[in-house]
Amino acid sequence: MSASIFNKEFLKSKTALITGGGSGICKGIAESFATHGCQVVIMGRRADVLAETCKGIIAAGGKAISVAGDVRLIEDCERAVATATREFGGVDILLNGAAGNFLCPTEHLSSNGFKTVIDIDLLGTFNMSKASFEALKKSSDAVILNISATLHYQGTIMQSHVMAAKAGVDALARNLACEWGEYGIRVVTIAPGPIGDTEGMRRLAPLGADKKMASEIPLKRLGSIADISNAALFLVSPAASYITGEILVVDGGQWLSKPAFVPRETWEKLNTKR
Ligand code: COA
Repeated sequence: MSASIFNKEFLKSKTALITGGGSGICKGIAESFATHGCQVVIMGRRADVLAETCKGIIAAGGKAISVAGDVRLIEDCERAVATATREFGGVDILLNGAAGNFLCPTEHLSSNGFKTVIDIDLLGTFNMSKASFEALKKSSDAVILNISATLHYQGTIMQSHVMAAKAGVDALARNLACEWGEYGIRVVTIAPGPIGDTEGMRRLAPLGADKKMASEIPLKRLGSIADISNAALFLVSPAASYITGEILVVDGGQWLSKPAFVPRETWEKLNTKR
């Protein structure tokens, strides 16, 4: 990660419980939080992947432990919170990052395929939020940070399952921001655009589709994991202490833009008035 503009110790003595933290975007956020003094508990289904990520964080001087579990199971979520409380004294930041995705035209999607993504993304976010509530209530500076998407702002073909799940995640976040504000719990969301070198991009933009995608983004590049972890650092920092219920889109302008009516070169040929 490039030099951080954040104080290296601003998360000192805080604990973050991070689902999906073994790989991809949430691994990057876990590393970044640890670099800023945070104790991290990473949860995911693959114990070997989690162990490897923890090893890296500890080797870099951070504090990390892992809990193998499935966010679809409330008892696994409760176990993760109990582990964080036992090992690190509580939970200050809950990062709901565990997600499932694959491309599938809706007419080919089974009922169980649809349900599986709803269960991981939406039920998983509910389960983790509910399981963490008492611990978060005890924190002086509690934040729930959800990783959502921009897919559901428009129609995204072959993504009906994910669009429905992420729309639900966003609705739940707005609700919890209102309901749990009185307990001092902020609820914020990052909606990443296409982020290079992630499982999500390998699934959604195979066969070189990522290059075309990058060329169509206003900022002309895919996002990086550091782009998302910097946004996460801001949202959990005191600089964001009056922000709740808000979604920060980090996508280089992708979802806003549509193709030009004609290429710029065509305009140059046509236009005599400058
Ligand atoms: N296309 C269509 N349906 C699919 C599918 C695909 N590529 N992959 C899985 N499914 C369906 C399965 O057929 C099954 O439905 P069925 O019982 O009617 O056949 C259902 O989804 C559940 O599949 P299963 O493999 O048992 O689920 P799982 O819990 O082991 O895995 C997934 C969950 C499917 C989301 C899997 O892709 C995963 O683990 N993803 C995590 C990583 C990830 O997606 N990262 C990117 C996040 S952006």
